Amino acid sequence: MSKPVLQVIICSTRPGRVGPAIAQWFFDFATKNDQFEVELVDLASFDLPIFDEPRHPMLQKYEHEHTKRWSASVKRANAFVFVMPEYNHSYNAATKNAIDYLNAEWKYKPIGLLGYGGVSMGVRAIQQLKPTLSALKLIHAADITVSLIATPVVEGVFPGSDILEVSATQMLDELVKLVVPLEPLQLH
Ligand SMILES: Cc1cc2nc3c(=O)[nH]c(=O)nc-3n(C[C@H](O)[C@H](O)[C@H](O)COP(=O)(O)O)c2cc1C
Repeated sequence: MSKPVLQVIICSTRPGRVGPAIAQWFFDFATKNDQFEVELVDLASFDLPIFDEPRHPMLQKYEHEHTKRWSASVKRANAFVFVMPEYNHSYNAATKNAIDYLNAEWKYKPIGLLGYGGVSMGVRAIQQLKPTLSALKLIHAADITVSLIATPVVEGVFPGSDILEVSATQMLDELVKLVVPLEPLQLH
């Protein structure tokens, strides 16, 4: 396999979000780390309405262009990092909606979760997403938690930190370990 594709997905979709700055930091770090071909994917650019496919995604008989685009994007990935905010002690609704749209496209692919928030650092968002990952056989590899209080986004830039770089390195190492063993299990 040539370098596997890692998609860093910006899971916040609201105007004025800080997600893109944090995702850009991870994207730059992962690109320098050089184990993956890294893609930055903005969930907002798919403009997914609340799930509106008439058939179960397991059938992959999609009616809508937005679903076909989203499916083609997720299919391309060998691994994911979700960069996701904590909203009301959980993960944001746009993340769940985007996950629910698809099925086989996710299965047996490794995923890292980068959660961010205030004092809770996105921990509750991460923990609450895990049962959904297991339903879709997304294989959880590692977490990163970011406190926007300790490390704020300033003028659109997330500075990261030495500790976060250690966590990011560990996440990338764990993800890459899973890519080859999981590949034969994936359904396309
Ligand atoms: C609807 C909403 C609910 C939030 N709930 C929490 C929360 O439960 N815990 C937390 O740490 N931060 C919470 N926050 C603060 C967010 O973590 C912070 O606003 C962050 O910037 C949101 O990510 P985004 O800007 O990329 O959308 C909430 C923000 C919003 C908009």
